[in-house]
Amino acid sequence: MASQELVKRLNQTIENIPDFPIDGIQFKDISTIFLDHQLYKDVIADFVQFSKGKIDAVCGIESRGYLFGVAIASALEVPFILIRKAGKLPPPVISESYDLEYGSAVIETREGQIEKGQRILIHDDLLATGGTTEAAAKLVEKQGAEVSQFSFLIGLKDLKGDEKLKKFNAEIYRTLE
Ligand code: PRP
Ligand code: MG
Repeated sequence: MASQELVKRLNQTIENIPDFPIDGIQFKDISTIFLDHQLYKDVIADFVQFSKGKIDAVCGIESRGYLFGVAIASALEVPFILIRKAGKLPPPVISESYDLEYGSAVIETREGQIEKGQRILIHDDLLATGGTTEAAAKLVEKQGAEVSQFSFLIGLKDLKGDEKLKKFNAEIYRTLE
């Protein structure tokens, strides 16, 4: 669990923007974290402590999941695999579609980058409804790997995203709630 000191520094740094991008939404702007290199290093160290010795690869979700995901994988000396929105990666790719409030979306990885039997950490900056992360976990499982852990900088509790993740029997870590 993140120290109270780290939580306090993050809460002082992340900006809450009301009614963005639409009315009623409190947007959490994490871009301010990257202005403070010591804070960034401490956040990565905290994620690394959660995953050390427990995973074989990190899958990060486009795009904000890359901001911490690559650094976590590098510190743990394991591969980093990009999960991208449809049409960005060259073929061959493996795809998974999921429902949005209106319509649907597709995410992809390049075929062959996830290996059968690997223990995977799925990382993203934010867990909201859980729809994106659930699709990412299905994408990992359909390639014969095991979702061992999820980590998020922010895990909103009100939207109950973690209920969508229970079925994967993986550890869930959120730095901030
Ligand atoms: C945001 C956030 C998560 C996702 C969470 O990404 O970074 O990836 O939404 O939402 P959910 O739990 O309800 O699925 P967004 O699609 O806005 O794109 P970005 O990361 O490229 O900014
Ligand atoms: Mg995102």
